[in-house]
Amino acid sequence: MRVILLGPPGAGKGTQAVRIAEAYGIPHISTGDILRANVKAGTDLGVEAKRFMDAGDLVPDDVIVGMVGGRLDEDDASSGFLFDGFPRTVPQAQSLEDLLIGRETPLDVVVRMSVAKDDIVTRLTGRRTCAQCGRIFHLVFDPPTDAARCDDCQGELTQRDDDTEDVVLNRLEVYAAQTEPLEHFYWERGLLRDAEANGAPDEVFASIQGILAESAA
Ligand code: AP5
Repeated sequence: MRVILLGPPGAGKGTQAVRIAEAYGIPHISTGDILRANVKAGTDLGVEAKRFMDAGDLVPDDVIVGMVGGRLDEDDASSGFLFDGFPRTVPQAQSLEDLLIGRETPLDVVVRMSVAKDDIVTRLTGRRTCAQCGRIFHLVFDPPTDAARCDDCQGELTQRDDDTEDVVLNRLEVYAAQTEPLEHFYWERGLLRDAEANGAPDEVFASIQGILAESAA
């Protein structure tokens, strides 16, 4: 199954992607996670990407497209994938389409997750992520037992540098200007489906499962 999760920052893409990847046995490919791993490791790519990410701006398309092409060459992506946070611009979507046409592995579905702006700000400013295993928490909606430690592995819970309110507001503007046009791009291709993204995580997952079952039928 080849799936894209499309939605603004904080729509719950990462939260759902973990569940979908596990349920369907496909790799969760998050360009944000790959970039953050490069920032942490201090690679050239990470150093270049960090200044865009900290401001809430997009990393240049050529950097992202090269990175994703390499990831799709890995063995675990041969039977499918779930993209979270990619593509984010029309040129990225066009490059992905060309790549997948070349491999005769077209997309199955693009799942759109829409959440209101005020809710997004609340979700992102309250997000905490385990520095060790990557599990995502929310201080109110999915609180850890200990505010400083992960329930699963006791790793330190951290707040992302781009989850401050002013950077979140810029990320939303960037999303509207550069990523929202993808809704039309995929609607024209008959691939766009709407998930119910405003309920509890279990309800959102059930909605996405319904969409994936339909597109696999
Ligand atoms: P990236 O890491 O992709 O971030 P994003 O798209 O902005 O999305 P987020 O990870 O912030 O949100 P999410 O939708 O995954 O929400 P989550 O599930 O965590 O990108 C970061 C940066 O990297 C970009 O700004 C850019 O600079 C760069 N970048 C990445 N990809 C790029 C690309 N392709 N091109 C160019 N640049 C790129 O949930 C959020 C919170 O809400 C959590 O606390 C969670 O617990 C809570 N929550 C989740 N679901 C629910 C629910 N149903 N109800 C209540 N709370 C919920």
